[in-house]
Amino acid sequence: MTGPGVNRRALIGSALALAACERRADAQTSPANLPTLRSVAPFPVGTCLQAVQLDDPAFAALVAAQVSQLTPEWEMKMEYIVQDDGSLRFEGPDKIAAFARSAGIRLFGHTLVWYAQSPPAFERLDVSRIAFDAAYRNYILAVAGRYRGQVSGWDVVNEAVAEDGEGWRDSLWSRKLGALNHMVLAFQHAREADPDAVLFLNDYNLENIPKKRATFLKLAEALLKAGAPLGGLGTQTHVAADLAPGELSRTISDLASLGLPVHLSEMDVSITRSEGLIKDRTRLAAGQARVYAEAAEAFSSLPPSQRFAFTHWGLRDGDSWLKRENAADTPLLFDDQGRPKAAAAAWIGGLR
Ligand code: G3I
Repeated sequence: MTGPGVNRRALIGSALALAACERRADAQTSPANLPTLRSVAPFPVGTCLQAVQLDDPAFAALVAAQVSQLTPEWEMKMEYIVQDDGSLRFEGPDKIAAFARSAGIRLFGHTLVWYAQSPPAFERLDVSRIAFDAAYRNYILAVAGRYRGQVSGWDVVNEAVAEDGEGWRDSLWSRKLGALNHMVLAFQHAREADPDAVLFLNDYNLENIPKKRATFLKLAEALLKAGAPLGGLGTQTHVAADLAPGELSRTISDLASLGLPVHLSEMDVSITRSEGLIKDRTRLAAGQARVYAEAAEAFSSLPPSQRFAFTHWGLRDGDSWLKRENAADTPLLFDDQGRPKAAAAAWIGGLR
């Protein structure tokens, strides 16, 4: 249930009415007296954040009040940690980890191996497999070992499936260590570093491209068959306000079919990415609220053992990575001032 005194149907109804009656999505009226996300969700609720944002007391207070899990938006990736000379830096993730500890919030590690990042220090190693194998293992042991006991889990491998679902992506990692083997090794090294973290395979567009979702599930099965300690499946859920009803529910249900915990790992619902199809911003805001409500309802309907966490890829619109694509986008649950939007009421209303 959504907690005492929260009338779910009324919340969804008022959220949709609120979203439908507003004149512009970014002028949304803040729903009054909403409970915090973490107080009503029957599972951990997360957000991404950057270390620098913690210098803003209002932001730090919003995070501590609203969520129970934190994902460093970029500071636990190779692009931040691995220096050109091969040394490793941890000031950023350590700052986030310290804040999480002080706020009693768990940390989620993102991400150890990603096709999109292969720093020069690794590229230069691209001469001998033995050196590369060792450097790859040492990196994962150093990073995952550093946050052992504080992270609930890791995105061990991120975005391994080809965009069209036809096979797996090519990367420095796959070329040097094998298409599947580099992933098996990553999971094994992460398990060696942290015996308790839930180890995830994470990807995006699983709701938009059914073929990609099918290939993702086949990859998960191949990893399990190869003996990789795969412990969970992450679906990023970067979607748009015109997403067809039912797509999210089908995706979450398909991912749960393997019986592993599911992490809805990076949700945002773009308004402007739908504008090519729908011009009316009030309809887009109502669509955004509907998508958030469906996600909350579908995730809530999973067995408790499979509801690992529901992570929003930011809390305040102004913090979203999508603003770099279109400054007019308003993809998250809170406005730039940290006030809950109709989308927040809809998400809460969708909880079971
Ligand atoms: O903050 C530094 C700044 O000090 C420095 O001057 C500048 C130099 O380029 O970099 C800034 O850091 C940037 C960081 O975002 C913080 O804004 C990095 O360059 C930039 O690469 C990084 O982008 C992140 C991106 O992943 C790549 O790591 C985005 O914030 C983050 O939202 C995005 O998140 C990804 C997930 O990891 C995977 N799923 C898709 C999602 C969206 O692309």
